[in-house]
Amino acid sequence: MQRQPHSLADATVPPFWYLLPVTTKKRIAIIPGDGIGREVIPVAVKVIEATGAPVELSEFDWGAERYLKDGVTVPPDGFTMLGRDFDAILVGAFGDPRVKTNIHAKEILLGMRFKMDLYANVRPVRLLDASLCPLKGVDPKDIDFVAVRENTEGVYTDAGGVFKQGTPDEIATQEDINTRKGVERIIRYAFEYCERHKKQDGSPRRKVLMCDKSNAMTHAGGLWQRVFHEVSREYPQITAEHMYVDALCMQMVRDPRQFDVIVTNNMFGDIITDLAAGLQGGLGMAASGNIHPGKTSMFEPVHGSAPTIAGKNMANPFGAILTAAMMLGHLGLSGEAEKIEAAVLAAVREKRTTVDVGGPLGTREAGEWVNKKLAS
Ligand code: NAD
Ligand code: IPM
Ligand code: MN
Repeated sequence: MQRQPHSLADATVPPFWYLLPVTTKKRIAIIPGDGIGREVIPVAVKVIEATGAPVELSEFDWGAERYLKDGVTVPPDGFTMLGRDFDAILVGAFGDPRVKTNIHAKEILLGMRFKMDLYANVRPVRLLDASLCPLKGVDPKDIDFVAVRENTEGVYTDAGGVFKQGTPDEIATQEDINTRKGVERIIRYAFEYCERHKKQDGSPRRKVLMCDKSNAMTHAGGLWQRVFHEVSREYPQITAEHMYVDALCMQMVRDPRQFDVIVTNNMFGDIITDLAAGLQGGLGMAASGNIHPGKTSMFEPVHGSAPTIAGKNMANPFGAILTAAMMLGHLGLSGEAEKIEAAVLAAVREKRTTVDVGGPLGTREAGEWVNKKLAS
């Protein structure tokens, strides 16, 4: 018996289009911010577009310029809107010499981290080429670790106050807030990260090192120590280590090969990741993600707005481009992310970079080279 061709109305046989893959576009909010953020983010956006990734991008003008114009840092319900309407946020940097109080940076950047509860600030430290590292005789594959920085507590909560201001008896306090919940979730995040992520050479990650200053800051340090000990017992296959932050800084420049996953508080995480950026070729090369698993997360290069080089087409866009790749990977677009990383690696190897990392190109030209590589 010959089968009759089915009609679209035939409910028992699915129509052909039923089998086509459904592509849902990832919705990404773009906030370039201030200074070089306004140069490197447009370049990173062009790179995202050059991969053909299924994304829908919407730009927001939050930053110093807007603040100086109408006094608005974050529009009403801004964070609710970001969490509701977007899958991820790509941010440049905040900081403008005209805004002395830095209030807009505090309200926008720290606002996103705190109010959207983006508790894990993940900063991968990867040396792409030996020529970028100030250390002698380093093999690029030896510098491949990640700093997991607590992102919602510590001294960054800005608890404290100033009393008797302007008098000889003036007192300033800055509280270091550490909650068991906050400490536990960031330490667990670091162990989970260690378990789920491989190194660039494909070998497994094996160690989590907790960094604190518990020899001097005994109350907060004691909590970190106890929680680290408890959580590490749940991961017997992962080596748990500890280092005081001062010793860690020394070790990071003496022998960075020893590090795998580092977990630490907000302040120490800020400091050690600028140091670690130095190992990768400087702030222009470093990427980061501000993550709460399952929620809209925010991605930003580690560097700031670099006012002295802003507007000169000098800023290195690779930190922002690698941040965009990190964001795409987080959104499940790992093919696109890997292509971007490979193109940046090629640019570094062929010295098609900005001046800070030894090349002859401007910000836009370095981005264009990456895009040509992606197209080839
Ligand atoms: P910065 O990161 O802006 O600059 C530090 C140094 O690194 C400068 O010499 C700068 O020229 C250089 N640099 C940074 N990024 C570079 C790049 N992509 N290419 C080439 N060189 C680069 O830090 P800073 O000078 O301490 O701060 C400047 C402003 O940025 C301040 O207002 C600060 O608060 C703010 N800031 C913002 C963020 C953020 O929004 N995420 C981060 C850090 C600093
Ligand atoms: C960073 C920055 C911020 C921080 C500043 C701008 C508040 O230095 O993202 O590393 O200290 O977290
Ligand atoms: Mn910093």
